[in-house]
Amino acid sequence: MTGGGFQSPQPIMTAKRRLLVTGHLGFIASAFCERFRDRYDITGVDFLGWGALERNLADGVTDVRADISDAARMAVVLDEAAPDAIVNFAAESHVDRSIDDDIGFWQSNVLGARVLAMEAQKRGIRMVHVSTDEVYGDAKDASTAWTEDSPIYARNPYSVTKAAAEMMLMSYHEARGLDVVVTRGANTIGPRQYPEKAVPKAVTCFSEGRSFPLFKTPAQRMWMHVDDHAAGIAAALERGVAGRAYNLAPSAANEEYTHVVIQRVREIVGQGEIEEVEDRASYDLRYWMVADRAREELGWEPEHDLESTLAATVGWYLENRDWLTAANEQLRNA
Ligand SMILES: NC(=O)c1ccc[n+]([C@@H]2O[C@H](COP(=O)([O-])OP(=O)(O)OC[C@H]3O[C@@H](n4cnc5c(N)ncnc54)[C@H](O)[C@@H]3O)[C@@H](O)[C@H]2O)c1
Repeated sequence: MTGGGFQSPQPIMTAKRRLLVTGHLGFIASAFCERFRDRYDITGVDFLGWGALERNLADGVTDVRADISDAARMAVVLDEAAPDAIVNFAAESHVDRSIDDDIGFWQSNVLGARVLAMEAQKRGIRMVHVSTDEVYGDAKDASTAWTEDSPIYARNPYSVTKAAAEMMLMSYHEARGLDVVVTRGANTIGPRQYPEKAVPKAVTCFSEGRSFPLFKTPAQRMWMHVDDHAAGIAAALERGVAGRAYNLAPSAANEEYTHVVIQRVREIVGQGEIEEVEDRASYDLRYWMVADRAREELGWEPEHDLESTLAATVGWYLENRDWLTAANEQLRNA
């Protein structure tokens, strides 16, 4: 199927459409599962790697332990799940760790995506690939925001693997007719984000009376609520045109400096110190994009402004301290 959308035939008394969702024990996919478990019959595949917690499993999701880069295993999983589409969230996603060692990033983010693409092609089903605005590089000197036609200029090993996967999948679309849609999401925050990432890490540090290490150069990010990101991915699944990429960005008003956001987290927590540290190497100072295509073609509209997103996110970690404690313990023992 090309040029289409997620168009498996719908019988009149239709059963729920079946999805294979990868990385469902991580941050964004668990939010997607929670939000859409009533709409779809979901099988989740996760190898319980970095970012995953078993307690993130959404009710009603069939929970499978597998590595998406294991072709033989994934063929069996797909035979059993018999999905109508694959939504690929699974990835290694932490920039600092990719700078230390990126081999696992190539394994999961590129070879894993390739295994899923082969299976999707073989079965004639759609694959939605969840990518990132980081593939565009750094917009600090740009005069206009990125559109989907802006050049790809990934600048750290993580985003290079994400860009490589996108290009590989688009070439399969061009050369073999793979029904693939790519989403490029903005910086996302919300419940169940692993506390190596800025907001839950800041909540942890401030709550425990430790100072939060903040890169000294202010960087601009477009902060998107995870529910908006999940809704954009579902819209791409349902209405995306095969072979196209869609930026998923919140309104321009959600763009803010990391310093301002971390200060706001400190205010909400009610205590804490911030310590400026050296920037990471190849630190991108601005991610800046528009999502006009997703609005026009997918009918997607992000709903959450920055203040309500921050308040809800920090509030969730403060109310779910057992989750945060367990995640931090797992992080320390990793
Ligand atoms: N967090 C963001 O701000 C953001 C923004 C844009 C795009 N993205 C993309 O969204 C996706 C999800 O990101 P996240 O922040 O939820 O990450 P996460 O680290 O919270 O979750 C990733 C999940 O994938 C699983 N996984 C990784 N490799 C796997 C493999 N080989 N086989 C099976 N499972 C595997 C992990 O165990 C984990 O549960 C990623 O593709 C990421 O690039 C994230």
